[in-house]
Amino acid sequence: MNKTLVAAAAITLSSLALTSCGDSDASSGTDNGGSGDGAITMGFAQVGAESGWRTANTKSIQDTAKAEGVDLKFTDAQGKQENQIQAIRSYIQQKVDVIAFSPVVETGFDAVLQEAKAANIPVILTDRAVDADPSLYKTFLGSDFVVEGEKAGQWLVDNAADADANGDGTINVVQLEGTTGAAPAIDRAEGFADKIAADDSIEVTASQTGDFTRDGGKQVMESFLQSDDSIDVVFAHNDDMGLGAIEAIEAAGLEPGKDVKIITIDAVKDGMTALSEGKINYIVECNPLLGPQLMDLAQKVLDGEEVPARVLTEESAFTPEQAAEVLADRQY
Ligand code: AHR
Repeated sequence: MNKTLVAAAAITLSSLALTSCGDSDASSGTDNGGSGDGAITMGFAQVGAESGWRTANTKSIQDTAKAEGVDLKFTDAQGKQENQIQAIRSYIQQKVDVIAFSPVVETGFDAVLQEAKAANIPVILTDRAVDADPSLYKTFLGSDFVVEGEKAGQWLVDNAADADANGDGTINVVQLEGTTGAAPAIDRAEGFADKIAADDSIEVTASQTGDFTRDGGKQVMESFLQSDDSIDVVFAHNDDMGLGAIEAIEAAGLEPGKDVKIITIDAVKDGMTALSEGKINYIVECNPLLGPQLMDLAQKVLDGEEVPARVLTEESAFTPEQAAEVLADRQY
């Protein structure tokens, strides 16, 4: 690398590190009392703030770090893999004790994971997996996204008769995919397709990414509705895209939950509210409250204890009646 490039890289890196340290009080090196007294220093590279789920996930990690005296250096990668890799490199330079991240996409992390390993810094994956040599990270904490997609597909198979709005014997499903290349988008589509294959009358007629955002879900649903007036079901890979689809369906003069059935994944408060109102028909839960388990795993890894290669989170699924029952106590 020539000198100009080196200087430019150094400036970008330092500005990214500065941004990350200013993001929240839990991100500051000294604010939560974790630095310099033997407490763990953790670098966490978050995907972004694309959904209600992500906001709850970030809060869980920051709140737990604060409560447990972990010195958390937090970066919001704004949905960009290159930002995440840059943040991880900065954590390696800062010689943090442990690095954790939720990968934006599955592939392309091999080199930076090798660098962390060479620097002897353990890495914990949270929420999403990477497609890389498992010896490059200590453990992966998060949901089974294939199972989530299967639950969504099974519900549709079980409720197929109700979903055929115009009674023509076919159930046309449009799918709002998560971020292209992200583990939850790939796995949820796979699990859903596996289950609906049991019923020949169910067909996915269109599938496009809405990038896990409400706006993305709304825009894609608008274009689906413009080109097809026979949509029976929306399968959205998260609540936010499902909520965006509701707006598009209502704007088209249709009734969400009745004229078009909606299945989503996450079970955040806004999604559960729409479910309890009958605008969404079924939600598969994806638990964002990973902070306590993450800090526990980090402590164990640093204490030299064996940790399982895969730690699954416990999850449920909700009908409108069940949503109404639990809504008041929902934490996120
Ligand atoms: O990786 C988890 C997924 O990412 C959540 O389902 C979605 O809402 C988020 O953006």
